[in-house]
Amino acid sequence: MSWFEGLTVFPPDPVLGLIEEFDADPRKEKLSLTVGAYRDEHLRPVIFHATKKAEELLLAQEKDKEYLPMAGDVIFLDSIGKLAFGEKNWKEYHSHITSIQTVGGTGALRIGGEFLKPLVANKLYISSPSWPNHRHLLQEGGYTIETYPYYDGQNHKVDFQKLIEFCETLPPNVVFLLHLSCHNPTGCDLTHEQWKLLSKMMLKKRIFPFFDCAYQGLGKGLAQDTDALQIFIQDGHEFIVAYSCSKNFSLYCERVGALFVFSRNKDLCPNILNVLKMKTRGIISTPPAHGARIVSFILNTPDLYEAWKQELELDVQRILAMRHKLSLVLGKGYAFIQSGKGLFCITGLQPNQIERLKREWGIYMTLDGRINIAGLNEEAVDLLAYAIKKVVI
Ligand SMILES: Cc1ncc(COP(=O)(O)O)c(C=O)c1O
Repeated sequence: MSWFEGLTVFPPDPVLGLIEEFDADPRKEKLSLTVGAYRDEHLRPVIFHATKKAEELLLAQEKDKEYLPMAGDVIFLDSIGKLAFGEKNWKEYHSHITSIQTVGGTGALRIGGEFLKPLVANKLYISSPSWPNHRHLLQEGGYTIETYPYYDGQNHKVDFQKLIEFCETLPPNVVFLLHLSCHNPTGCDLTHEQWKLLSKMMLKKRIFPFFDCAYQGLGKGLAQDTDALQIFIQDGHEFIVAYSCSKNFSLYCERVGALFVFSRNKDLCPNILNVLKMKTRGIISTPPAHGARIVSFILNTPDLYEAWKQELELDVQRILAMRHKLSLVLGKGYAFIQSGKGLFCITGLQPNQIERLKREWGIYMTLDGRINIAGLNEEAVDLLAYAIKKVVI
């Protein structure tokens, strides 16, 4: 008898499982709208030129492959902190912010979750719906996961009223995981005014804000995508931010991320850093250097920084063009696709219709009806719209 017979296996991951299925599909004409990664107009993966260039410069200059300190690369943390919080806030508040480098946004979410759990609550609320791995990774981190109302699937928008009413019903001391921008999977973000109202409500109800920032620059713009942080600082919150450089620097497999803890009492920062370092030590020992150094290079080399911003902006423009075309070709009832932000939107298709799209046209999307808009080009939009019209009667 094997030691491993008692294993309880997990159901397949809703995104990665489909990617494996897509890869194994022998059809030549097939379309993957599942993965959350940017694609160019030929539907090929992209590495930004600025990222490539920074990597070349880095390789020419790198002198050693020594371990990084437990908290990570300080230049990277300072640069990404400035980007996330904005230069002005960073200057004013960085003595209140403890930062560590993490293994992607996922690592930041996990370490952030473990850090918070004994301090705030072991119940954490994610939006309904949310990126599926939120539930999994935070459950694995010991949380009980609940959801807060977020998306109104009938009207394809945030149900803000319901969210606020729900907050009123909560006991104090729970954690809310909030998508800063480009909500995954709905593409529907809170407006500036809604963030302000939510911030007030969360203060009143003592709900701890745990921000997930995985798409800075892919929504309304670099500054606007993290606008909510400014509101929460001004209102007197303490909060944490899990930051991912996977999408906005096209560094998916390099696993670059950071965790920021904003504390009102700056005297507590050394203790916070101590705990974050020991968490890191206990899981990965020290973070990886390569991707973080690439990001530092981009952010601290003026011409690379400009080139990177332009490339990011071009990607956003391509996504917007595809949103526009898809909502136009699909016609009445699909205007919401155009107003969404970031890579994703929820089509509203039902599992049997999604299954038909896969079977008959080789079009793959997750069973919640989410599509990656960046997985489309002009021809793919036409094919998708044609197929959707066939299955939606
Ligand atoms: C909302 C959200 N948060 C976090 C992540 C994780 O980012 P990373 O790939 O850097 O771990 C993703 C990745 O898809 C995401 O969509």
